[in-house]
Amino acid sequence: MCGIVACIIKDKAAPVLLDCVQRLEYRGYDSVGIATLSGDIYIKKNEGKIDDVQKKLDLTDIPGNMGIAHVRWATHGLPTGKNAHPHTDCKKRIAVVHNGIIENYNELKTILQNEGHIFTSDTDTEVIPHLIEKYMEMGNGLEVASRLATKDIQGSYAIAAISADEPNKIIGIRKESPLIVGIGENEFFLASDVPAILEHTKNVIYLDDNEMAVLDLDGVVIKDIDGNVLDKEINIIEWTADMAEKGGYNHFMLKEIHEQPEVIRNTLMEYPEIENVVSTFPEFNRICFVACGTSYHASLVGKYLFETMLGIPTDVVLASEFIFSEGALNAKTLVILISQSGETADTLRALKIANTKSETLAIVNVLGSTATREADHVIYTRAGPEIGVAATKTYVSQLTCIYMLAIAMDGNNNLLEKLQKVPGFMKNALAREDHIIQIAKKYKNSTDFFFFGRGFSYPTALEGALKLKEITYIHAEGYAAGELKHGPLALIDDDVPVLAVVPPGDRHDKTLSNVEEVKARGASIIGVGSSEDAALRLESDDIIGMDNDISEILSPIPYVVPLQLLSYYISIERGIDPDKPKNLAKCVTVE
Ligand code: AGP
Repeated sequence: MCGIVACIIKDKAAPVLLDCVQRLEYRGYDSVGIATLSGDIYIKKNEGKIDDVQKKLDLTDIPGNMGIAHVRWATHGLPTGKNAHPHTDCKKRIAVVHNGIIENYNELKTILQNEGHIFTSDTDTEVIPHLIEKYMEMGNGLEVASRLATKDIQGSYAIAAISADEPNKIIGIRKESPLIVGIGENEFFLASDVPAILEHTKNVIYLDDNEMAVLDLDGVVIKDIDGNVLDKEINIIEWTADMAEKGGYNHFMLKEIHEQPEVIRNTLMEYPEIENVVSTFPEFNRICFVACGTSYHASLVGKYLFETMLGIPTDVVLASEFIFSEGALNAKTLVILISQSGETADTLRALKIANTKSETLAIVNVLGSTATREADHVIYTRAGPEIGVAATKTYVSQLTCIYMLAIAMDGNNNLLEKLQKVPGFMKNALAREDHIIQIAKKYKNSTDFFFFGRGFSYPTALEGALKLKEITYIHAEGYAAGELKHGPLALIDDDVPVLAVVPPGDRHDKTLSNVEEVKARGASIIGVGSSEDAALRLESDDIIGMDNDISEILSPIPYVVPLQLLSYYISIERGIDPDKPKNLAKCVTVE
């Protein structure tokens, strides 16, 4: 949801800014821009993906050892060149990049226009450089003027600002949008996310809301919004720059799918930490999962698990709807927030509400992200950086954490032993890749797809449908298999492929009956089940065979793998870049 970067270094800044902003392209790719400072402010920006703009403009061809950069996911104003960041004041002496939304920008813009400021874009962001200009004209320096500007603004922001009237200084300010400070050797950075700067430093300060960073060549000073100096901890990041590279794969998504067995192994090593967290829990009589998108699907598996294993009533609420659940929260409720990024605005809003009434636990992938600092307890998914917009490896690591949490709360070590076998099952599923490519070729021109499963396979069906929608743009529906005849069966005909998730277990026979029902209406069946399941094979036009000894309860982890691969390869067949699906960004930092 827009990515921002800033740096002040010893050498030329523009190539470094370009490299950093390329590593943030998963946050938005409507347009890109860089501004550097060398006496005057130099700006290059345009609409389009970074590689295309770079070919046309050579974004690195601007002077100076400091600057700011931006990749955009449009909120206010079309994704055009004039709306691309950085934005400037009237005299082009101040440049600003911004991630977030200025809710009162219309009102501020009118005031500023009445005061004579000339606007050149349709963005909300442009009010910021004009406000800074206004306060600098009153005799303030860049730092105080930026602070005053943010006091006028309502909304969310991570901002980086530079001014030609104060060379060698960069200001970063955050409220409800992520911003980190990178501390290198005589070089300093601001970025929306860690992967942007891993190549340059692993020493990071996480800014909290209403905090600002003042960067110059001598160092970084962190202050609160009233200008008081703060003493902030420097965190050492364990991720390496290689982890955020494609590593020989054509796309991040494919690399991340293939990393999954190892991700599960790494996440399983968190079990002692999870036991520690559980040992501090008071007694709960209700659990409430809160999440969005793929993380919501992982939460649904949590509901089935907690209710069947622990017998604790468990709800799953979409973070954007959580406000309606506030009245039912109390001190006996454990609210579990699941988020890859730990920065999803809806989830953070829900966390704020939950913190006032209940115990909160965040299951998060990104170290130091806002959710990890605001929740009462934190469990990390050890997936490493996930760059592909479509969540894959973080989904299976979320699931692994949820299983381990249930095991730690229940003391069922038998299931923990079975979890150790899951990486092997996933490896075997990945080995079906060539067969899945053939299935992708067969169904690549479909316009509608259905996914269904029962019980633990229902969230798998939802996740399969979401992956297909996200990266192939094919209309897809995920259903609880038993629900089909309550309406959607009317949509089934010869043109609709149905992917049925049918692992062996208690729900197998009933799901197979649902397969027969759709088959009788002409659907083509892609069966995903045990390779030894002769009945499913008989009903299926195409079958993706999984290991026979995957138990139903653990099936959500390995069974999602073929669904991810199928979406990936259909996306490739349709000529779509699965890492950068249209209209989507990796991290949704606006509500
Ligand atoms: C998943 O493929 C999507 N990119 C999206 O649904 C994502 O899961 C959702 O936005 C939640 O993000 P989070 O886990 O970072 O909170």
